[in-house]
This record gives sequence, C-alpha cells and structure tokens, in this order.
Amino acid sequence: MEKKADTLILFGATGDLSQRMLLPSLCALDADDLLAEDLRIVGTARSELSDGEFRDMARKAIEQYLPDHRRGSMAQFLNRLTYSQLDVTTPDGYRELADKVGKDREIAIFLSTAPSLFEPTIKGLAEHGLADSNSRICLEKPLGTDLESSCQINDAVAAAFPESRIFRIDHYLGKETVQNLIALRFANMFFEPLWNSQHIEHVQITVGETVGLEGRADFYESAGALRDMVQNHMLQLLALVAMEPPGSFDAGAVRDEKVKVLRALREMEPQESVTGQYRKGAVDGQPVAGYDEELGRDSNVETFVALKAHIDNWRWQGVPFYLRTGKRMPERVTEIVVQFRCVPHSIFPNARLKQNRMVIGIQPEENIHLSMMAKVPGIEQEGMTLRQVPLDITMPDAFTGKHKRIAYERLLLDLIEGHQTLFVRRDEVEAQWRWIDSIRAVWDKEGREPKTYAAGSWGPSKAIALAERDGVSWHD
Ligand code: BG6
Repeated sequence: MEKKADTLILFGATGDLSQRMLLPSLCALDADDLLAEDLRIVGTARSELSDGEFRDMARKAIEQYLPDHRRGSMAQFLNRLTYSQLDVTTPDGYRELADKVGKDREIAIFLSTAPSLFEPTIKGLAEHGLADSNSRICLEKPLGTDLESSCQINDAVAAAFPESRIFRIDHYLGKETVQNLIALRFANMFFEPLWNSQHIEHVQITVGETVGLEGRADFYESAGALRDMVQNHMLQLLALVAMEPPGSFDAGAVRDEKVKVLRALREMEPQESVTGQYRKGAVDGQPVAGYDEELGRDSNVETFVALKAHIDNWRWQGVPFYLRTGKRMPERVTEIVVQFRCVPHSIFPNARLKQNRMVIGIQPEENIHLSMMAKVPGIEQEGMTLRQVPLDITMPDAFTGKHKRIAYERLLLDLIEGHQTLFVRRDEVEAQWRWIDSIRAVWDKEGREPKTYAAGSWGPSKAIALAERDGVSWHD
C-alpha cells in the first residue's frame, strides 16, 4: 500500500496549466473533502511572490475557472498554499525548497514546466535530497517530440526516480467517460463475447476541436496534430478499446495489456494517412482565420490527421481502426464508434438491415448510444417493416446529483495517493512514439504537404475518401 503524500510541490505554479486546471482541481477536491487535512501545497516558479501573493493569484484563477458551486470554503484551500521562488537551473531555490518541506515527509512533485526544464529540475531535486524514496514525480506532456527525445527525458527521470514513482500524465485517462470505457467492457457480460473481429467490422475514434492555434504557435509548430493528439490521447483511447481483459484493475495488469496493443500496431502504408491544415472559414457561425494567417507565415504542419490503423493480433485482425482529429472542426466532440458486422443471414427479404453500431460519447456529452433494428408497430400483409431505433444512455441522467469533474481532479488525487493505473508507463510511451515516428518517416520520405480544408469542415476531402474507399462513412 502506497503512502499518501503530505506535501504536493507544483513546479510551474504560476503557469497556464496550473491556473486553468491544477489549482481549480485541487480546490474542488478540497471542497469535496477528498484531501487529507494535513496536505500542504507548495507552489514554485521563477517569479518573486510572497505566500500571500501566490494565494491571491490562486484565488483569482479558481474564481475564473471553477464554477461557484464547486469551490467550497476557498479559504481552507488557500491556507494550504505556500510559495517558494525557484529558478530550476540554479541551486539556490532548491535549498530553500528542501528546507521548507523538511525531512520527515512524503512528497508528490508535479512538473508543469517546459519539458526542456525537466532534466535540470530533476538534477536539482536529486542534489538537494528531494528525490528520495519518500517522493514521487509527475510529468506533463509533451514527453519529447519523437522516440529519441522521449527516451532522453525518460532516462533523465529514471536516473533519480524508479518507474514505480514516476507518474506520466495523459489527461484523457482522467476523464470519467474514458474510465467508463473500462467499466463498460469489463463489468458487463454482453460486450466481451462480441468484442472481436468476428463481430466488429471497424472502429472509429474522432477527436474534433473547434479551437485553432490558441496562441501556442511555438509549441504547435514543433508538434502538429499527430504528435499533439494521436501519440498520446488517441492511442490511449485505442488501447483501452482494443486491450485484452486485464487480470485486475492494478496498474501493472492494465498497463501490460495496453502496451501489448500499442506494440501490435502495424506500420502504416502511405495511403493510410491524410493530413490537413485549416484555411479561413467559419466555426459556430463566426468567421475564423486560416492557420497560415494566425501564424503569419506558411507552414507544413498538420492541424488535421486521419489514419487507418491496424492491430496485428488475433482479436483485431481485419478490423480497421479509423482515427481522425483536427483543429477548427465543426464541433468539439470526442467519440468512439464501434460498428458491428451485418447479420450472417437475413430472414426479412423486404427490409434493409442496418448494422448495429455503438457510439460512446466522451465529450462534450457523456453518453452511450446503441442503434438496433426493431419492428415498426402495425400489421403488414407481407413480412415486417423494420427500422433502426436508438437505445440511449446519458450519463448525467443515469447518475443525477453527481457533478462533472475536471480530468485533473482524479489524476491529482491518484498522484497524491500513489495509484498509477491511470498514468502512462515508460514502455507505453515508447511504443506510442515508435509507431508515430514510423508514420512521420513515411511522410518525410514522400515530402508530404498537408491538404487544405476550410475551418468549420471535417477536414480535407481525402479524409472522407480514406474511409469511403472501404465503404465506410465517418460518423457525424
Ligand atoms: C492537449 C493538446 O493535450 O489536449 C491540445 O495539447 C488540445 O492541443 C487538448 O486542445 C484537448 O484536450 P480536451 O480535454 O479539451 O479534449
């Protein structure tokens, strides 16, 4: 049993992630009485701030990003906060931080800084006795831009922390509906016998975003949609859909099964991927600029990608997984579509049977939608009239009185309590990068340039053709 951390250190505590997600999530956990009474939170960053100024900043961030009804007594939460100024590249601040947290403690360290600062930070922590057997570390993405750079980061962390104390965040794993995928598959009897190539024709995973560059030009230009969204979030979703039943919900068991799927991803053929970049158009009825205009120059970076992936194992042989993600899509939606095969023989000669389809909505709405054939009521002369009908479950309706949580709430609590199941293990990250690098190598070899698409559309027409070639239509 892991010991709970009594001290949480936030590096990058004045940054965007901290203000938008981490501090509001911690405050919400506190309001729900989920934080131990003695947990203290130490923020660190380069700015010179007093404890009071840091608390002020936190209060403003919470008021901006956390709904009123989730804040509880903010004063109790703010009292947990202290601040320690620290430039991660110089030794002075670490000494002060080490003095502040003291010796007899259990620390959780959250690095929400640029990955280029991970190495010096870890070195500083190790040199000042803050990377001992009573501390664990949590890393935010991006963990590198390819396998090599990711290994470099992982090696630097591994020099000071064993894998059992490294928590790599993929915030999609903190989303309720993503965890619900595990519940759906392994807490019900009727899905598992059908969950294979014999009964499933194909799977689609869509992550559409309406936002554009959001002022992150430097980062996005070094990433693009493939590295920013597919390498992590979408491959995690794919792994959860495709993995074998783990023996338990234990971190080792779940991650062992996910990594097997990631390693079984087949190298992609050039015609199995489509890249796109948005041009001006309209989203939600509002005119928006093109990527090149936002950037102020031309760029070859993809803001959209569609892929046809294959998992080479017994369960999934012959079942394509179509993945697509993009910025400036018509709507913000994350969903998984599981398309079942046709019935082997129809006894309804006059009816066009539609294949069963399950749509798991992850955001913005959390729901499960199953479409099935049913008889239209009435008395017919010959045979029956059939129609596709929905079987819908809307999570908020099924669980009234439960509020929607920020994905980071779950992950921060698991970090503090030492549960690793919803964090990504090193071999998973490396398997993800290996596959992504192989796709990029294909693009580099052919000098791939993204096709343009109008903002507010579902990407370039080639993306539609990618599925339609196989007689498949993307679910809209
Ligand atoms: C981040 C990406 O990891 O996930 C962003 O860097 C993206 O580009 C974001 O917008 C999407 O997260 P969510 O939770 O809004 O789907």
